[in-house]
Amino acid sequence: MAANSKITFVNSQHAPVEVACEQNLSESLNSSNSPVLFGCRTGVCGACVVKIHSGIEQLDKMSAADEEVVLVMVDDPTAVRLGCQLYPKGDLEIEFVGKK
Ligand code: FES
Repeated sequence: MAANSKITFVNSQHAPVEVACEQNLSESLNSSNSPVLFGCRTGVCGACVVKIHSGIEQLDKMSAADEEVVLVMVDDPTAVRLGCQLYPKGDLEIEFVGKK
């Protein structure tokens, strides 16, 4: 496994960023390097919803609690995750969709 994951932001002018593998994404991204907006960072508010365009196969399965939040936030939960609950293990292409 690579030491870093490259996070590419789809539909964003933001340049890709390298983050440490298996580190929480919301801890790796801050106000200067993140087009993803975070709120609670605990998986409750749904502010950080992202669509995974590639790399979903290397993410852990979404927890039932996270799935409940996602289902409230988006109409189609396919390939959608809470950005604050992601621990990338490889490269990801994500699109911030936030709350609907
Ligand atoms: S920041 Fe609140 S659910 Fe992710």
